[in-house]
Amino acid sequence: MSRDVIIETRNLTKVYRDFWGRPKVQALKALDLQVHQGEIFGLLGPNGSGKTTTMKLLLGLLFPTEGEALIFNEPTTNVAKNERIGYLPEESYLYKFLNAEETLHFYGRLFKISAAERTKRVGRLIDMVGLNSAKHRQLREYSKGMQRRIGLAQALINNPELILLDEPTSGLDPIGTAEIKELIRDLRSQGKTIVLSGHLLADMQDICDRIAILHRGELKELGKVADLLTVQDVTQIKTKDLPEAALHEIRDVIARHGGELLAVDHPTTTLEELFLRIVRESDLHPGRRRVAEPPTRSGSPSPDELAGSPTKP
Ligand SMILES: Nc1ncnc2c1ncn2[C@@H]1O[C@H](COP(=O)(O)OP(=O)(O)OP(=O)(O)O)[C@@H](O)[C@H]1O
Ligand SMILES: [Mg+2]
Repeated sequence: MSRDVIIETRNLTKVYRDFWGRPKVQALKALDLQVHQGEIFGLLGPNGSGKTTTMKLLLGLLFPTEGEALIFNEPTTNVAKNERIGYLPEESYLYKFLNAEETLHFYGRLFKISAAERTKRVGRLIDMVGLNSAKHRQLREYSKGMQRRIGLAQALINNPELILLDEPTSGLDPIGTAEIKELIRDLRSQGKTIVLSGHLLADMQDICDRIAILHRGELKELGKVADLLTVQDVTQIKTKDLPEAALHEIRDVIARHGGELLAVDHPTTTLEELFLRIVRESDLHPGRRRVAEPPTRSGSPSPDELAGSPTKP
């Protein structure tokens, strides 16, 4: 195993058994993969495809039925390695009657971090996940998104080298999702290795360096996101202010070379991008409301027309 391989699984297989020890579900089938130091690796797959099972096997919380997994070149059963790992489980398991600060101090003490260092880290992490204004509230009052945030802070309290995040953005709104993604990229720039799971391609495609696509416990696809998403045999031509005559010429050129013009279209923004822009602009100009152009009029509305009338607080 080369030095920059942080995780390696070989023929990793998990069969859940029923009460009588009979095989019930084959959750993971002969998984072979490697995760390298400093990458964001995504486990992508629909519900029940084996993402959580894989993470639990990596942490040593489950024992494989067959095969093995190595982390930092050591068997996953070696619990000492867990001090170098951070884990955000898919469901909140934190104590509901503690507040954010108490929670992080509690986990910091489990890792035997000194009081002074803990105070520093707790403040920094609460800030980082955007819970400053809610840090004295008990977790039972937290919304889903706030619970994800405190879970993420908890996963980072031991300053881990490897971070396993099981659906880090589930339950988060697009702003929260974008913030968490930014945070994950920051962690990568600090040299950390991140494995995250999810089932929304849109959420994974712009953050993961490589992804593994799981389906019913089988590895279906593994590779760089850019390579997986590039449609090799389709070329898209983008221009600005192209006259109609030029378009005809281009069509002729393509036909002359035996190609086929599949589509000429204008790029669209995604709903997520649009939503993010609107919310961010609204943060900058509170009270101003952007209204859509009425369908009967032509031409672009002026910025003043777009701004609309201020909304009442
Ligand atoms: N403790 C268990 N006992 C029996 N079967 C289990 C257990 N945990 C998971 N499974 C089964 O193993 C399969 C994989 O489950 P897993 O939780 O790993 O999927 P997942 O990809 O994380 O799904 P999701 O997106 O819903 O979180 C499923 O068929 C599930 O029913
Ligand atoms: Mg899961």
